[in-house]
Amino acid sequence: MIDLTDDTWWRTAVIYQIYPRSFADSNDDGIGDLPGITSRLDHVASLGADAIWLSPFYPSPQRDGGYDVADYRDVDPHFGTLDDFDALIRRAHSLGIRVVVDLVPNHTSSQHVAFQAALRAAPGSPERALFHFRDGLGEVGHLPPNDWECMFEGSAWTRVFEPDGQPGQWYLHLFDESQPDWNWDDPRVRDDFETTLRFWLDRGVDGFRVDVCDALVKAPGLPDWPHPTHGVVEPIEGRMPPMWDQEGIHEIFRAWRRILDSYEGSRILCAEAWLPPERTARIVRPDEMNQAFNFAYLEQLWDAEAIGATITASLAANEAVGAPTTWVLSNHDVMRHASRFGYEGLVALEHGVGSDDPQPNRELGLRRARAATALMLALPGSAYLYQGEELGLPEVTDLPDSTRQDPIWERSKRRIRGRDGCRVPLPWDHTTGSYGFSSVDADKTWLPIPVYYAPLSVASQVDVPHSTLDFYRSALEIRRRLQLGGGKVVWTNHPKTGFVSFRNGNITVIANVSGTSSALPEEAKIVLTSDPSTANTRIIHPNMTVWIQD
Ligand code: NOJ
Ligand code: CA
Repeated sequence: MIDLTDDTWWRTAVIYQIYPRSFADSNDDGIGDLPGITSRLDHVASLGADAIWLSPFYPSPQRDGGYDVADYRDVDPHFGTLDDFDALIRRAHSLGIRVVVDLVPNHTSSQHVAFQAALRAAPGSPERALFHFRDGLGEVGHLPPNDWECMFEGSAWTRVFEPDGQPGQWYLHLFDESQPDWNWDDPRVRDDFETTLRFWLDRGVDGFRVDVCDALVKAPGLPDWPHPTHGVVEPIEGRMPPMWDQEGIHEIFRAWRRILDSYEGSRILCAEAWLPPERTARIVRPDEMNQAFNFAYLEQLWDAEAIGATITASLAANEAVGAPTTWVLSNHDVMRHASRFGYEGLVALEHGVGSDDPQPNRELGLRRARAATALMLALPGSAYLYQGEELGLPEVTDLPDSTRQDPIWERSKRRIRGRDGCRVPLPWDHTTGSYGFSSVDADKTWLPIPVYYAPLSVASQVDVPHSTLDFYRSALEIRRRLQLGGGKVVWTNHPKTGFVSFRNGNITVIANVSGTSSALPEEAKIVLTSDPSTANTRIIHPNMTVWIQD
């Protein structure tokens, strides 16, 4: 069972992200679901994670993988029922695993009853005031109200037809046109989300991962912004872009904090905000959110100096506000790190790869991914893992284009392939239907599963010494036993360049990010190595990390 008196669990927790569509399918429709997750939670428990975070499973037309929520307080029939959700929580808690769910407050689905009502209502009506409706520019209002671009290519505005059939106002959507942004200046929006928080807290959730939380408040007047708005955005001339990180977001988080604190146990808020460390740190001040994803870390290339500098900046920024740092290398929005590191140089994280693009070096990618993971899991704070990284799954870079579902693919006129390659269902075994994910064939699941996933399945790796799964389990076991999550980074100077080296407690971590090997003293006690072939040697080869115990 989970320990409700443990107020600090989240400060050191390893949180495993589950993408419900792709974890396990219980009713053989080719789509993962909540009972499927419940039936496979022992995998998460034996991995050694402290919590799971579930990406959205709410009723949704699935135009953006469920981040287009049509009803915030129910379960989509594809994923099951509220009873299935209750059963999932009970099982997770009985295994000592906490459950964090996704909250998507910036936008809703255009199918939400409130948006449908707004479409039927007149300009200036209370129904429209829940969203950002504006008249267009130009003589006949045929131009969008400002120059903002949506995150999925093209304008952030879509024009509606008024009830009389004439082209009319425009509404704002920072993402797909099927995802209208809520107007957080309207108190009814605030009230409704507080009801949603209580709804899930009453059902026992241990926290919320808050989707694009830095976008809730827009600068008054929605001024033009002719600068970049993607990725980790920096202030320009002291000003943040008018759609990101406005001061007003903080009072919303404070109100939520008060609600969470009124519940038994320690319930958490985790911010999804692509901001630099010093801006992210402002969201995790003591009376706001508990933690925030460290996307600056995720964005780093395989480069010792860059990795070291980001660790230092992250620790310093968070120390200033007393919040733990977090670390993350993969999620459902970026190319899996086992493939990302298989390229030399910069990769556009969310752009995806197709069969006709340059392919990653799979062997190098996995080797570096394991080294990067060993480095990450030795860092103090909380760490986020994405389902399948414990199997060393590569990005699926040869998905048939006809199967792609990420809205950016069509919006970009089939130029940007998008994020489907990291969302392909998990292989559980190497024999049945779709490798244990479902009983339908592997080309019939919602995204097809490639044959090269079979040898990476859970069954193929479990209890196989030095498999990627075995390596993750060992790392998590040692991390927990030696309490590395609660430790401190003390930098040690490695004599050679291209190495990241630090101490945490009685562990010395050395990551070889250079092209040359380095020898360790004979007596060095290696307790973890990312390189399966060198378990008994004293050489740290390139793209390899070791943990040495005093
Ligand atoms: C971030 C989510 O992780 C991503 O999948 C989604 O497309 C956008 N926010 C919009 O909700
Ligand atoms: Ca299913």
